[in-house]
Amino acid sequence: MKIILTKNYAELSKKSAEIIISQVKSKKNSILGLATGSTPIGTYKAIIEMHKNRQVSFENIHTVNLDEYRGISRDNSQSYYCYMKKELFNYIDINLKNTYIPNGMNENAQEECENYENIIKNLGGIDLQILGIGHNGHIGFNEPSDKFSTKTYCVKLDDRTIEANARFFDSFEDVPKEAYTMGIDTIMSAKKILLLVSGASKADILYETILGEVNPQVPSTILNNHENVTIIADEDALSKVLKEKPNIIK
Ligand code: PGA
Repeated sequence: MKIILTKNYAELSKKSAEIIISQVKSKKNSILGLATGSTPIGTYKAIIEMHKNRQVSFENIHTVNLDEYRGISRDNSQSYYCYMKKELFNYIDINLKNTYIPNGMNENAQEECENYENIIKNLGGIDLQILGIGHNGHIGFNEPSDKFSTKTYCVKLDDRTIEANARFFDSFEDVPKEAYTMGIDTIMSAKKILLLVSGASKADILYETILGEVNPQVPSTILNNHENVTIIADEDALSKVLKEKPNIIK
């Protein structure tokens, strides 16, 4: 694991945008795995800025998102489809036909999950997967469990995840209780992974992710088994690591 320490969220966002842009420039038809949540918003803003300055084109890029809530439609403002349009796609020259997000309205979970895996396979696999991390160590919506998940599946969301996401909804009850998510094997088969972590509230889980045993109760620990992972985290998120194991950050 390569760890990049940044002073704050702004620097984290700029650095991660640079890494994504450099991927897009080095392979113009890259397959990008994208994430939602609050952490990547600054990264997407920085990408939009660089695109405006004509530093990069997304014309031949395909994207696949990690997950989508089950039971809400694409035009629901809380859908990750709307999020991606609002935070990124509306402002860059990507062809919306080349952007993929699980269809939360497909009631046939098996069919939806197989479709999504086939899309990723037919694209030739993910070149660079962006990840955030939940306070419980979830990546995508892979929640703590007795075993690591494999392929895209329909997951019952953890109460902590529902609570964390309730800030985007009117109430806890309004948060969908299920989602379609790439599985751990799907994420781990990306050629490169970029994990973004910001804020003191993530200090414990980031410490456990980097220094804990690989364990499905903390899904993010699996990243230790991937050979090309970069973590970009700010000082607050790395505060526990910096206090207890400063030497692992070069
Ligand atoms: P956040 O979510 O970026 O909003 O903290 C991350 C996640 O739950 O994966």
